[in-house]
Amino acid sequence: MSDDGHRTPGLSIRPVTEADIQAVVDLWDEAGMTTYASADEIVEEVTTKMARDPDLFLVGEVDGVVVATVMGTFDGHRGRIKRLAVGRDHRRVGMGGQLTAELERLFEARGITRIRLEVWAENVGGLAFWEHRGYTLEPDIRYFVRNLGGSSDPC
Ligand SMILES: CC(C)(COP(=O)(O)OP(=O)(O)OC[C@H]1O[C@@H](n2cnc3c(N)ncnc32)[C@H](O)[C@@H]1OP(=O)(O)O)[C@@H](O)C(=O)NCCC(=O)NCCS
Repeated sequence: MSDDGHRTPGLSIRPVTEADIQAVVDLWDEAGMTTYASADEIVEEVTTKMARDPDLFLVGEVDGVVVATVMGTFDGHRGRIKRLAVGRDHRRVGMGGQLTAELERLFEARGITRIRLEVWAENVGGLAFWEHRGYTLEPDIRYFVRNLGGSSDPC
């Protein structure tokens, strides 16, 4: 179940804290989101993000254990969603939906009227999730990237 009104029993959602850093990195590892960088670089990424829009970087906890994350960012124009991850043992009970609903509520409270996000084309589950939540694929936009400073960062 993933209706906004249907709360997954035991899930509490709150902004990330420094004490969560390792749990967040472990979840991202499990979700295959950290293959592009070293462990230290990922920790640095979490720490840097926590200094910006910390209220939009959320974790979901069950029994005091972090089992889900989502990172919202605001560029002054649009809201962007990154790093939605739910631990394997906790999927398909609505947690991803609830974290996203909470982030959408926070975006709306800031006056943000449109959200953008990227999904790897092969991520069939991710695509199905966003479609289920009412997000639509934008057929008229192509996504350009350019690395700086000699970086070979693939994402
Ligand atoms: C994608 C992800 C966040 C979904 O989290 P979740 O908590 O399992 O999602 P929900 O339970 O809220 O799912 C809501 C609905 O989305 C759809 N959905 C979610 N995961 C799906 C999957 N793997 N395949 C097909 N549909 C899926 C279903 O319609 C589901 O409703 P249902 O369970 O009643 O059928 C989770 O699978 C995950 O962490 N994946 C790895 C990381 C990732 O790909 N993140 C997204 C990056 S864009």
